[in-house]
Amino acid sequence: MDNKQHINLQVMPGGKLTGNIRVPGDKSISHRAIMLGAIAEGITDINGFLKGTDCLATLDAFTQMGVSIKETNTGQIQIEGVGLHGLTAPNGPLNLGNSGTSMRLLAGLLAGQRFPVTLTGDASLLRRPMRRVTEPLALMGAKISANEQGTAPLHIEPVPKLQSIPYALPIASAQVKSCLLLAGLYAQGTTCVREPTPSRDHTERMLQELGYAIQYRDLETCLTGGGTLQGHAINVPGDISSAAFFLVGASIAPQSDLTLQQVGINPTRLGIVHILRAMGANINISNVEKRCGEPIADIRIQSAKLHGINIPKELIPVAIDEFPAVFIAAACAEGKTILHGASELRVKESDRIQAMADGLNNLGIVAKPYPDGIYIEGGKIASGTILSLGDHRIAMAFAIAGLRAAGEILIKDCANVHTSFPGFVELAASIGLNIKVLPSNHQSQADL
Ligand code: S3P
Repeated sequence: MDNKQHINLQVMPGGKLTGNIRVPGDKSISHRAIMLGAIAEGITDINGFLKGTDCLATLDAFTQMGVSIKETNTGQIQIEGVGLHGLTAPNGPLNLGNSGTSMRLLAGLLAGQRFPVTLTGDASLLRRPMRRVTEPLALMGAKISANEQGTAPLHIEPVPKLQSIPYALPIASAQVKSCLLLAGLYAQGTTCVREPTPSRDHTERMLQELGYAIQYRDLETCLTGGGTLQGHAINVPGDISSAAFFLVGASIAPQSDLTLQQVGINPTRLGIVHILRAMGANINISNVEKRCGEPIADIRIQSAKLHGINIPKELIPVAIDEFPAVFIAAACAEGKTILHGASELRVKESDRIQAMADGLNNLGIVAKPYPDGIYIEGGKIASGTILSLGDHRIAMAFAIAGLRAAGEILIKDCANVHTSFPGFVELAASIGLNIKVLPSNHQSQADL
């Protein structure tokens, strides 16, 4: 599948998921590998880098700031680190496409540079809230401005020196935490970030791998500015957020038996496994090992009869990207599933609560949005047309729903699947999903 606009996906009903596969590399870890490798000293080799358009936007941004990044003939990404103070001014604005992670983490990393820079992105990224990073960065002395609505483009001007701050995040967010820790590398003193509940900790783990001292105290992470990072070999595990679609797919499709190899199982990402197991899923984790500070394992999923649950609030940050897939599991489960406390889902690549409720309703499922969550009654999935709103995870979630649908599901506007999961259609088809890319003028049977 390529990344042209107006790509639609057609999923025909039925099928089961079987086989033994690897999903592409973790998006969050791939972003951080480029960022930290670029400002480290010496060479960083990245094995398993995700070549999705989000991570390529990060890679491109550092190339534009003078960092030499190339692909070796063994397929690794090699970065010649320029050190904390070696980045140079880009020729124009850095366009980060659809990637919130690139924008929020780069805002922190670039707030302490000696050159001005503008961060921009696509229509979805330009709608997403940025005050959550601009406000604490301003408290650190950064000169950073958004527009009146608190959205990008972000303009950053150099300042003589950032000051460290203690900062308590109102909502758990790895992007905000990482933004402030990256700014903290350039700040005078010790920056401490406190979260209400833990969010993904890949930045902290990778900083330590690259030799930077970090202190963890309960929910607080601290680092002191002025150190150095050393280039390192980094291994990127399979992305559990991509695996999530297949964890749900193999659970809901009868007679499935699927193994996903070498997936990242960092506890701050494992909410999907806890939620699915609570719904009755049959998931087995084996061959656990640790590589470059990150735990990885093989995950086997066999079909199971799922039941609805009240999703525990503490699992929200550790399953934050997996809710579109979880809602498909809920639609196929017996009884009700209820989620509250997840208003963050409304400000992701799309309003994921509304997009999922609308899509499920189109497929004949009772789903009612709450301001901060959703109510879903398990039922029979009909055929229908889905608007993905250009959101990769909405598109992939509804593709998986085809496994239990009564007829064709047509999913519109799917080009952004390429942001996080290049090769999704081919890989999903290879394990049994009846999916193909359609020309954009195709009319669904359900529309006729
Ligand atoms: C990410 C953190 C999460 C997640 C996003 C990736 C990261 O965002 O939704 O896809 O790599 O730090 P929040 O931290 O805003 O919840």
